[in-house]
Amino acid sequence: MVKLKEINHDNWIDCIELEVKDEQRQFVNPNIFSLAEAFVHSDANREEAEKYYRCIPFAIYSNDDMVGFTLVTFEKECDFDNKPGYEIYRLMIAKEYQGKGFGKEAVKQILDYIKTFPYGKVENIYASWHPDNKASERICLDNGFVIIGNDEDGAVLSKLAITEKF
Ligand SMILES: CC(C)(COP(=O)(O)OP(=O)(O)OC[C@H]1O[C@@H](n2cnc3c(N)ncnc32)[C@H](O)[C@@H]1OP(=O)(O)O)[C@@H](O)C(=O)NCCC(=O)NCCS
Repeated sequence: MVKLKEINHDNWIDCIELEVKDEQRQFVNPNIFSLAEAFVHSDANREEAEKYYRCIPFAIYSNDDMVGFTLVTFEKECDFDNKPGYEIYRLMIAKEYQGKGFGKEAVKQILDYIKTFPYGKVENIYASWHPDNKASERICLDNGFVIIGNDEDGAVLSKLAITEKF
């Protein structure tokens, strides 16, 4: 069972040290980049967070081991439909922990978090991935996301409509 935990004084360096496989670097920015992005779009910089998008970073744990990282975003006007939305903006499981179901379980935990609507209600949750990223595609489609198209760079765009069962 994986858990999402805040990035804090005790774990931020562990987070930066997590790595994906060399051939996966094209799929995700390094965690140090994501943490910088999260700082710029956080309560520490509220004006930017409100104007552009708010980042909500989490470390992903299995028991006491940090196995991955995710960055959720909230945007008042999403590029996808100009409505408020959350996006699973970044997700990685460290190379030594991949293939054990942690990514799939983490997405379930992320969706549970989003459905608490920490920054307001939305109609849709979004996720996108590189067209060659079959693991991401599998995880998102298995969790109910539906493909809605491609962006100008070819990334696959998907959404999960919030229904009554949420
Ligand atoms: C994508 C990623 C998060 C998946 O995490 P993971 O813990 O290895 O994935 P899981 O073990 O939960 O496997 C999820 C599913 O994907 C499938 N899968 C994994 N690799 C696959 C591949 N290369 N092709 C097809 N399916 C694949 C698994 O079989 C599993 O499906 P199943 O439950 O039906 O058997 C991880 O591989 C990763 O960090 N990759 C690099 C960064 C990245 O791509 N991030 C996402 C950016 S959008």
